[in-house]
Amino acid sequence: MNSNKIREQFINYFKKNKHKVFESSSLWPQDDPSVLLTIAGMQQFKPFFMGILNPEKELQSTSIASVQRCFRTSDIEEVGDKIHNTFFEMLGNFSFGQYFKDEAIKLAWNFLIKKLKINKKFLWTTYFKGEKGLKKDIETFEVWQKYIDGEKIIGFGKKENWWGPPGKTGPCGPSSEIHYDLTGQPCQKGNLCKPNCQCGRFIELWNLVFMQYHINSKGTLNKLPKNNIDTGLGLERLAMILQKKDNIFATDLFNDLVNTIIIDKSFGNSNDYEDVIRSRIAADHMKGSVFLLADNVYFSNKEQGYVLRKIFRRALDQYLHSNVNLENIVDSVCETYKKTYPHLIKKKQNILSSLQKELNAYKKVLEIDVNEIVSKINKLKHQTKRLALKGPSSRKLTAQEAFVIYSTYGLSPERLKRKGFTFDDESFKKLIIKHQQLSRDNTNNKFGGHGLNSKEWSNEDRQKIIRLHTATHLLHQALRDVLGLNVKQQGSDINPERLRFDFEHSEKLTDDEKQKIENIVNEKIKQNLPVTKKEMKYLDAIKDGALAFFKEKYPEIVNVYSVGQYSKELCGGPHVKNSGEIGSFKIISEKSSSSGIRRIKSIVK
Ligand code: ALA
Repeated sequence: MNSNKIREQFINYFKKNKHKVFESSSLWPQDDPSVLLTIAGMQQFKPFFMGILNPEKELQSTSIASVQRCFRTSDIEEVGDKIHNTFFEMLGNFSFGQYFKDEAIKLAWNFLIKKLKINKKFLWTTYFKGEKGLKKDIETFEVWQKYIDGEKIIGFGKKENWWGPPGKTGPCGPSSEIHYDLTGQPCQKGNLCKPNCQCGRFIELWNLVFMQYHINSKGTLNKLPKNNIDTGLGLERLAMILQKKDNIFATDLFNDLVNTIIIDKSFGNSNDYEDVIRSRIAADHMKGSVFLLADNVYFSNKEQGYVLRKIFRRALDQYLHSNVNLENIVDSVCETYKKTYPHLIKKKQNILSSLQKELNAYKKVLEIDVNEIVSKINKLKHQTKRLALKGPSSRKLTAQEAFVIYSTYGLSPERLKRKGFTFDDESFKKLIIKHQQLSRDNTNNKFGGHGLNSKEWSNEDRQKIIRLHTATHLLHQALRDVLGLNVKQQGSDINPERLRFDFEHSEKLTDDEKQKIENIVNEKIKQNLPVTKKEMKYLDAIKDGALAFFKEKYPEIVNVYSVGQYSKELCGGPHVKNSGEIGSFKIISEKSSSSGIRRIKSIVK
């Protein structure tokens, strides 16, 4: 059964069972700063699980089904084996207090057995056996006994049979998973070879989550107002089974792309094991890059853009030559997915040109001479008193040094090694995890991302960032004055050297426009306008005309910072007390950052 047919069968089945069907949401969750990317089908329905919104009123249904595009970095190191990927599709059904365990299990079972005609002898299930004061889920065990032999219903703890929340807070609960037995043969562990055995015999297919709890930021578990159902069935894995393939990359969801990559002569001999692995990683990451770009993520060094940069460069790292044919790759992904995701076709040209630009940028990085990098880092060390490198002759780096080269120049650890550097992998990985954590925390805390909370900055740096931060507010307003009210903030990043401001605008700015903007900001600086802060209700602030970064989810009560009467903006601060403290303002560059988004960098002196 081809993958289009599988999606269709799933949707039709749940429609017949009184579910309302919803479109996939974006990979970039627009109003949920607790996560970077969409990792599960339930995410767009979080407020309904939590009882904040009424599903009958807002969705006209309490039972929902969807095919959700998802992106997870948690398995990135596993990509290349038979069953893991970063981008994938999740077939899901959800109930907001409508039905619970009995019905969810029945629906899942009948879909697999009756609709898809999967032989039940291959299926095993798991349930939550209780842990840390949380009770064993006997009910689920009992329901499963109606369908399946008790020996094939296995209990596990929290690690395996508890799901959620995505991010730090949100709905969660015990789960029950359906696993498929690929070989029918236990490994050398004999009777201990069961679902979750790492031998490759079992593949997790469908996760049924009984969303009964909510966990808050203090880690306290509270009962949700209703018993809900959240399920996720992996399309790639289901396709692998129904298409009788040995791995997901051989299904129709990957086949053409993998062949395109091999035909591209990137990989010497496609039978060679290492080549196979590299072609799978490249295929997975290329596909993920196309889908992230299609959802308006653009290349950058933080948050979503950082994930995109990382996977695209990692895809490029799999090639042993530099003539990657991106056009064929984008074509192949669009062709495979055009029916389900027509937005890919509309954005095809933009996606291709973004990839091309990033490829060129990465090529430049790769051409950098390593000795030059070391001496540049040493210079940086000198400027910021932050880091000591052992000097150009040494190829032995500390993990911290390797990480700085990686995060400053985008040179991946694999590339660094190919260039002859050595460093400790484990410590490097720890730094990456710390960096991702910081990046996530920034997403949670920031209002426009001035990064002031970073421990990296000295006092002097922090003062500079504060001046640049107030200048950003003036720039935002000046842009709207000169270019029009369609100018909307898309992102902001400040470090002691410069501010960076991304905004929606389709045209390149003329010299005249840039000059006008610069003049306005400098004039407002010269007027020594007082900067004031006022606490207001979010809705009142917006009604009052305060500018906001609409991608941000604001609390009910917000701080509004005004620079005289000129600029008014929602923000977490801090700011200078008087615009005169900013100094003189200069735009140093203006260019496109992605389709329809311009990026300005400015300095103050
Ligand atoms: N939200 C559950 C999962 O992602 C279904 O596994």
